[in-house]
Amino acid sequence: MRLVDGFGRVATDLRVSLTDRCNLRCTYCMPAEGLPWLPSDTLLTDDELVRVVRVAVDLGVEDVRFTGGEPLLRPRLPEIVRGIASHPSGPKTSVTTNGIGLGKMAQALKDAGLHRVNVSLDTLDPERFKELTRRNRIDDVLRGLEAAADAGLLPVKVNAVLMRGVNDAEAVDLLAFCLERGYELRFIEQMPLDAQHAWNREEMIAADEILDLLGKEFTVVPDEEPRGSQPAERFRVLKDGVDLGTVGIIGSVTRPFCGACDRVRLTADGMVRNCLFARDEHDVRSVVRGGGSDDDIAAVFLGAMAVKKAGHGIDDPSFVQPDRPMSAIGG
Ligand code: 5AD
Ligand code: SF4
Repeated sequence: MRLVDGFGRVATDLRVSLTDRCNLRCTYCMPAEGLPWLPSDTLLTDDELVRVVRVAVDLGVEDVRFTGGEPLLRPRLPEIVRGIASHPSGPKTSVTTNGIGLGKMAQALKDAGLHRVNVSLDTLDPERFKELTRRNRIDDVLRGLEAAADAGLLPVKVNAVLMRGVNDAEAVDLLAFCLERGYELRFIEQMPLDAQHAWNREEMIAADEILDLLGKEFTVVPDEEPRGSQPAERFRVLKDGVDLGTVGIIGSVTRPFCGACDRVRLTADGMVRNCLFARDEHDVRSVVRGGGSDDDIAAVFLGAMAVKKAGHGIDDPSFVQPDRPMSAIGG
């Protein structure tokens, strides 16, 4: 049995949100204060979570990505990773993190069987970092990146969201920083998933514009490698004829990749979502807590896939933002 939807797409990538909380407050994600957290008794326990994810792996999931909020805030994360990485199918595991906790935890995660990390970094300027994330923690993030590389959580990928008039002047600097250190940078178009519902199409820096910005310093050419179900379009970066590495652009809004989507999601409170932008959720927590079998858990995943829509339609006038913000759904 595999996680096939009505359009023939197969989900092999499960994104698991481990908590909706975060130690940063990025302006495009959360308000400065006052965002209500999920009640703790609704969060799946470690054992419940590991069980549900292992059922998804039984159903053909090959990649498990832990997200948040900030997943490193979840106590006993290494044990959770170990519980999943030890599945006989050998799923690949990764964490999408703001990087702050990696200085302390990278090696423990590697030892637990984690394969990779994605670290979010939108600016290299300490003052701007403070404005953008409302916290003065850039040094912890930079230390975290180094710790991840030292621990062999490779390749280290860096995610950056560019915003007009905020950090768009840093596109080239961010890329140079990552190329020098062997990190794979991916720029992500800003999506309407903020808790404040303040997303504005005009302020979004679109994929074409990102390529123009990078073109001022580098020659950027499409990579030969096929994109497959990767949301990032990959480009080779050249300067004076020398190949410096690659950059990815995730054009979620202007270059949607829904047709090749291979994802399914599990929220921290045990809801299966067939899309970031889904309006419906499928309750696996009550199945687990009601004494359901592994087959019953599998049925929730299969049911969610059966009603997966063809696409998110962000650029369509009828688009409605999901009720829950990205910090509660998982990035
Ligand atoms: N649009 C695009 N990316 C976002 N992220 C958080 N909110 C948004 C948004 N509205 C990014 C974070 C992190 C990853 C989980 O998603 O910067 O890199
Ligand atoms: Fe935290 Fe990520 Fe949201 Fe920033 S974008 S506040 S790091 S969850």
